[in-house]
Formats: sequence, structure tokens, C-alpha cells
Amino acid sequence: MIDYKQNLAEFLTKVTNLPVSNIYNLIEIPPQENLGDYSFPCFQLAKEFKKNPAEIAKEIKEELSDNKPDWLDEIKVAGPYLNFYLEPGFFAENLLKEILLKKETFGHKEIGEGKNVIVEYSSPNIAKPFHVGHAFTTILGQAISNIYEALGYNIIRMNHLGDYGTQFGKLIVAWRLWGDETELAKDPITELTRVYVKFHDELEKEPELEDEAREAFRKLEAKETAEVELWQKFRQVSLVEFNRLYDRLGIKFDNYNGESFYSDMIPEVVSLLEEKNLLEESEGAQLVDLSEFNLNPCIILKSDGTTIYASRDLAAILYRNQEYDYHKNIYVVGLPQTNHFQQVFAVLKKANFSKADQNVHVGFGTVKFKEGEFSTRKGNIILLEDLLNQSVDKTRKIIETNNPEMTKEIIAETAEKVGLAAVSYTYLRNSREKDIFFDWDEILDFEGDTAPYLMYTYARARSVLQKSNFSSIDISKIDFTLLNSEAEFSLLKELYKYPDAIESAAKEYEPSILLRNISQIARSFNRYYHNVPILKTDDNDLRSARLALLEAICIVIQNGLKLVGIETVERM
Ligand code: ARG
Repeated sequence: MIDYKQNLAEFLTKVTNLPVSNIYNLIEIPPQENLGDYSFPCFQLAKEFKKNPAEIAKEIKEELSDNKPDWLDEIKVAGPYLNFYLEPGFFAENLLKEILLKKETFGHKEIGEGKNVIVEYSSPNIAKPFHVGHAFTTILGQAISNIYEALGYNIIRMNHLGDYGTQFGKLIVAWRLWGDETELAKDPITELTRVYVKFHDELEKEPELEDEAREAFRKLEAKETAEVELWQKFRQVSLVEFNRLYDRLGIKFDNYNGESFYSDMIPEVVSLLEEKNLLEESEGAQLVDLSEFNLNPCIILKSDGTTIYASRDLAAILYRNQEYDYHKNIYVVGLPQTNHFQQVFAVLKKANFSKADQNVHVGFGTVKFKEGEFSTRKGNIILLEDLLNQSVDKTRKIIETNNPEMTKEIIAETAEKVGLAAVSYTYLRNSREKDIFFDWDEILDFEGDTAPYLMYTYARARSVLQKSNFSSIDISKIDFTLLNSEAEFSLLKELYKYPDAIESAAKEYEPSILLRNISQIARSFNRYYHNVPILKTDDNDLRSARLALLEAICIVIQNGLKLVGIETVERM
């Protein structure tokens, strides 16, 4: 695919004697379509040649007009600016050939080739409910992984399970006192939560439970069989639950090493910090002073010698470095943990760790619900499973009403996909640091900024293609240059932005950038489709070209949604 901005910079360099990169950076996208596709301000040249910029613009235009390349339609002078208008037919042909040829890899790049990127996401806590906050990291992390993968990076998807810490001592004691095997088999997380909550209630009457819990955790750390076996059981039943959700959402990990995995590697962290003389003792604890970073000290070992969350994260970084020699190590974790990651990264910096600047905390906001929108099973924790089920239920009703002829099975299948997509899209559509707000009327609105809207647009375009003879048309015989109307050109320009949208989304860790592009493509297409009856186009050549445009739109919408974890449906 042609990079017009680059081409233009090369074209201009011949007459301005400014270097290409300099020109490239000066080229702007005009604020209005009637001002052309690119513009070049002549102020810098004016300074250099000590001339009026408007005059320079005129002179350059004269010089360039004689050997205008094929891709350029017109050059116009507007005061101190030169405005460039692309040739719509050429543009259409070059872009559509690329999309139809590359199909599902259109927009993908190889800039990440040979580089390992670790994306850590989801990371729920064992024996605790999987709530709507964990869904944020899960869905966002998956999208970021896919987007980096599309750029050629080698992705390692890691789930840093919260499977360690003193709370497991409490859970072991609580389970031995009050656990019920039958209930555990039925609904493990509910049962484990029940005994854990009871432990805290009973603690008021029986403070010595605390000592028992500490003892149980000590035994767990010392790898005593009975404690390790119980802990493994809790971990295993929790994973079965989590995996059910991951399967439903189509989410996969390469690695489930939880915090426990790294607890054995703490001595390595301690000796590294000791070697660099960074450990200080304070009230029996070992810590790293971070005052030069304006941060509180990072505790590495507690006074009783047990490890903490931050030290396990440091051990994990050493491990990731050895195991994957990573280019980037990305943490998709909520904003409340910003300070924690700042401390961990500052310790690395202070220790002169080679990859100290290759770790990124990608934070996100909190999840809120419209008043009375959600009845919860458990106090005020909203489980992801309940959220998904409600979304699918509501979607089913809408699809049933819209498609009375659909079979029950197809309705159920479609509702599952659309309902999940509606939830995922709500998590991803805005800048990730913003809080999100669930309002069913809004997220299931088939006309709104929603997954159902995009999926419906896709399904509609597909159904037009199905009704046509497009599959029997020889693509190499299509005259794409016929797609030169204003409406077609502006739609094509949205498609042209897709590869850049992937790249910016990766750079900013913001799938919302990609989704904005997809939703603009869909809006632009719907406007076009409203005005141009594609199937009823009289001229056969033009009809074929328009069908090819439709096919390209389907390809790009489907690709974009797939990157953020949303699967399209053919009918809805
Ligand atoms: N398990 C933690 C939680 O649920 C998140 C873990 C984040 N990752 C990390 N490497 N610290 O809050």
C-alpha cells in the first residue's frame, strides 16, 4: 500500500531542497476535506529564502505541476499553504487491491519481528470471585496482546495468578474448621469465600485463630505436605472456574505462573540488591530507599522474613528477563496499583537493571453501573459471569424480536456472541483510564456506539454480498478506478487509516484508538449504503467495483473486531 505522505515528502524534496524527513514532519492533514488530503505550510521555506510564504507556495506549485505523479490529482495554493488532492480512482485501486489480496492480514506489519513482548493480564486471586474489575484487565490485556501480535511481535501471554500470601494460611485453617466438600464441588469459589469470611467473623471471638493461620502459612512456605496439598486443591478448583470464563471469552494464556512460583526466587532478588548495597534494615524489615524517586521505600522482606507482593514482582521480572529476554514487559493492572509498579520499577532503576526502562504499567479505570441496573448475587461484588449472562439474555430478546424466522439454536448462538461482544466493547471503547459505566440501554443499542451496531453493519454488508454474484467475479478484472465519487473517496480514506490505527493503538496501549477507526468505517459505510443502492447499480462494471468495496469493508471490520477479541456473526 502506498504511503502518500512519504511519497509527497519525496516529491517536495526535489523543489525545496529540505530533507525528506523534515518535509514529512511539516506535512499536515487539513482540517476540512475541501482543503485537500495533505497540506504543506511554506513558512519555514519563507524564512530560509527570505520571501513571502504565499509567493513561495505559488512558485512551488508552478514547478511541481508539470511532472505531477499518477497518484496526485491537483495542487492548489491557499495563502501560505499548498494543498494536495489525491487522485480518487488511483487511491481506490491501490488500497482495495491491497485489502482484497491480504485479507485477514491487511494492516499487519513486521516491525516487531524477533522481539518478545510479555503481556501480563487477568491475574485474578485464587479462591476469590472473578469480578467485573478482573474482566477489565482480561479483555484489555487480550486486545493489547492481539494488537502487538499483528505488528509482528512474539507475544507471551501471562497470567500472574494471586496464589500466594498470608491469606492462604487463613484459608487453610478456615477450611479445616468449616469446609464442606460437597459445596466445594458444586461451587468452589462461593464455598471458599464463605469459610474465609467466617474466619474473619470468628476472629473477634477467638483471636488465637490468627496464630494458627500464621503457623499454617509458615508450613506452606516450608512446603509441608498437608498444607501444600490443600493449597494445590484451592488453586486447582479456582482455575477450573477461571478457565470456564476464559474459554467462554476465547482467552488464552501461555503461562499461569502465579505469585507462588516466584516466591522461591526471592533469595536471588535479595542477593542482587545486597550486591548493589541497596538493602537497608528498618524495624527488622529489609527495604530499598526510594526517596530520590519521591516514593516510599519498597519493602523486600518483612521482619519475620516472609516475602511480599513487591518482592515477588521483582523476582518475576528477573525470571522473565532470563526466560524471554523481553523487549517489553507490559502489566495490564488497575490504576490503584500505580504506586506499586512505580516502586518496583524504581528499584530496578536503582539497581541498574538492564531492562529497567522496558517495563510498562498499563492502568485502567473502575467499573460502575447505572443505579438499580444490577442485582448482585454476592453483597456488592459483581461477578463477571452474572454480567455476561445478563447481557446475553437481554441480547437474545432483541434478536428474537428482530428475527422471528431464526431457529432457537441460531438465536442462542448469536445472542452469546453479540452479548459478550457488547460487554467487551464497553470495556474497550473509551480511553482505558476513564471509568466505565454500564447502562444496558446504551450498550445494547443497535444504533449507538456499540458492538451490536458494528456487528449489525458487518452482517448487513455480508448479506448484500451473499445476494450478489460477487463470489463469481474475477477480482483481477475489476476496474476499481470507477470508485471515484466523493462518498466513495471519503469511505476509502477511513479504510486507509486502519493500519495506522493499529500502530497507534499499540503505541498508546489503547485499543480504543483502533475501535474508533472501525466505528468510523461503519458510520461512513452506513451513510454510503443509505445513498447508493449497491445491488441495483445499473452499470455492471461499477456494480462489481462497489461489491468489491463492500467486501473490503467486511474484511476490515472483521479484522479490527477480531483484534479486540470480538467475533462477527453473519446474521443478526
Ligand atoms: N492479583 C492481583 C489483583 O487481583 C493483580 C496482580 C497484578 N500483577 C502483578 N504482577 N502484580 O489485584
